[in-house]
Amino acid sequence: MKKKGGIGIVGTGKFLPKKVLTNADLEKMVDTSDEWITTRTGIKERRIAGQGLAAAFMGAEAAKEALERAGIGADDIDLIIVATITPDMQFPSTACLIQSRIGAERAVCFDISAACAGYVYGIGIAEQLIKCGLYRNAVIVGTEKMSSITNWEDRNTCVLFGDGAGACVMRKVDRGGILSAYLGSDGRNAHLLEIPGGGSLRPSTHETIDEKLHYVKMSGPELFKEAVRIMASAGNKALAMSGLKCGDVDLVIPHQANVRILWAVAKKMNLPREKIYLNIERYGNMSSASTAVGLTEAVTEGKVKKGDIIILDAFGAGLTWGAIVIEW
Ligand code: ACO
Repeated sequence: MKKKGGIGIVGTGKFLPKKVLTNADLEKMVDTSDEWITTRTGIKERRIAGQGLAAAFMGAEAAKEALERAGIGADDIDLIIVATITPDMQFPSTACLIQSRIGAERAVCFDISAACAGYVYGIGIAEQLIKCGLYRNAVIVGTEKMSSITNWEDRNTCVLFGDGAGACVMRKVDRGGILSAYLGSDGRNAHLLEIPGGGSLRPSTHETIDEKLHYVKMSGPELFKEAVRIMASAGNKALAMSGLKCGDVDLVIPHQANVRILWAVAKKMNLPREKIYLNIERYGNMSSASTAVGLTEAVTEGKVKKGDIIILDAFGAGLTWGAIVIEW
């Protein structure tokens, strides 16, 4: 289905810290092996942002690249939405910090909390705000310093995550653009993935720190099953909303939590594995930044071409999920 005059993505960018942490490095830190991590998750290495390098810096660098590729200046931006679960600080919003770093003085800025689905949520929200005429040019950022909320002594979680940022510029386009956006949430399963300490319920104290409540707590196997079920169903729902079929899809750019989840999703959606974009091997799970960096790399690698039908498909803590069908 070719659509005229939708809201589209006109530029993408990314930032990845230089420091690489390999599975071999992790073998020296916890009781794990390259073999276990590779076969259970598909991850070989991840990037780590050093001290002083946090979500706003990485997000601003990704946004600058996206603006350059979109061919517009910071003055042209009137909306900045940032998805992050690792903000520089509780407030002000990371979106405001990024606004100041890139000099987008006219923009309205806010953060959203939708974990790994945050970037897809941001795109879905921005589409509506542009469509209704409130804003013309929006920057959406997914930026995470997952290493700052990772317990480096817990082998169940520390092998999974990495740091990085991705961004895009959205505006009205002459052809194609977003064909459908399907977002969903299920707070009944909030306990499957959380950081229990440091919020208003259990503010940080010596006790909460001793109990390591400021780190990610995850029920891996339960999440695995939910991720497969929900990502496949979200992808199919978004496709149905767009009037397209799985045979029309050129590439799915999914959240990268585990390669086995993605193969199971491909099977459930009746898609060949070649149609699933993968970069988990190099970066691990970067939460909201995973889909953002994935889209940026798929475009720069020439895997997304003009007129292609792509799906962004993400799932995360909340639970939250979202799938967006785009004619590129
Ligand atoms: N190295 C070696 N052994 C390990 C490691 C490790 N790094 N981690 C766990 N193990 C062990 C466990 O202790 C367990 O041993 P036991 O049987 O003696 O108790 C064994 O390996 C199997 O553990 P499982 O948890 O059953 O392993 P599973 O095959 O389920 O893989 C994983 C674990 C990779 C975490 C998987 O469950 C997963 O990917 N889950 C989904 C994660 C996800 O989707 N997260 C949501 C998005 S993230 C976000 O929103 C921020």
